[in-house]
Amino acid sequence: MNQELIKKINKLKKEKNAIILAHCYQNIEIDEVADFVGDSLYLSRMAAQTDAKIIVFAGVYFMAETAKILSPEKKVLLPRPESGCLMADMINLQQLREFKSKNPGVPVVCYVNSTAEVKAESDICCTSANAIDVVKSLNTKNVLFVPDTHLGGYADSKLSDVNVITYPGYCPVHHNIKPEDIQRKKQEYPDAQVLVHPECSKDVIKLADFVGSTTGIIKKCQESKNKTFIIVTEKGVVDRLKRDMPEKTFVLIKENAVCANMKRIHLEDIYAALEQEVYEITVDSQIAKKALTAIEKMIKI
Ligand code: 13P
Ligand code: SF4
Repeated sequence: MNQELIKKINKLKKEKNAIILAHCYQNIEIDEVADFVGDSLYLSRMAAQTDAKIIVFAGVYFMAETAKILSPEKKVLLPRPESGCLMADMINLQQLREFKSKNPGVPVVCYVNSTAEVKAESDICCTSANAIDVVKSLNTKNVLFVPDTHLGGYADSKLSDVNVITYPGYCPVHHNIKPEDIQRKKQEYPDAQVLVHPECSKDVIKLADFVGSTTGIIKKCQESKNKTFIIVTEKGVVDRLKRDMPEKTFVLIKENAVCANMKRIHLEDIYAALEQEVYEITVDSQIAKKALTAIEKMIKI
């Protein structure tokens, strides 16, 4: 690892009163300079709480945008602005309006993996860590859930008195994982616990011993007495588990469980972002105001 570069980034961070937030799907080298590493919910909380002047977001676009909405007075930088989220791109404002018009009067829960415009048009946001609690909090018989059909379907399966109507979006990285992949790994590692991210399909979730967000999966591995785990989410989680718990065995469900957008950022990009203060995220103030209401409602839960 480039120790010289790490030193330079840490120095710049101090000089500029900046913090670096990193999602746990990022290239593992980013942890060397990150102040906080975690799932979407944890990182949004950190973005809302920090006193720093600059937030460098090592993640994808919607995460940096959410940080900007939560901390509008701060400069939020995304080192590689083309890092989008394939699921967030599956619904735009017009598609959401059409979905709502087919189900008039039904409240909308919006997964945080979405654009600011879509959040602004929704009643409340959720992340993979709190989707069930958020749906429950609405206290209604029907709920619309966008854009992730799998996460919405998972909340539906856990709440017998709520009907969750889902939009047909999904994350290709998680959607491509099939029940046969788990069965195959289980044959190889019969004593392993199967830990699944709720962006996976219901047939995959059925085979899980535990379902949780990326941070939820990491905590479960720390607490469990089990020695072997099949990790059914993106590779970054497995890289961190192997680094932090070398005494246990972690098996990545399949080699191509990799989010290319999450992997765009390298230490060089972080340094350039801090030095040149690029690429700054901006959100239209009217949209930001409405989206903030939906995000804050979630954070309170
Ligand atoms: P987490 O909510 O676990 O951070 O997941 C975010 C994400 O993009 C998963 O694909
Ligand atoms: Fe989006 Fe999927 Fe990548 Fe998460 S893993 S950022 S949902 S494309």
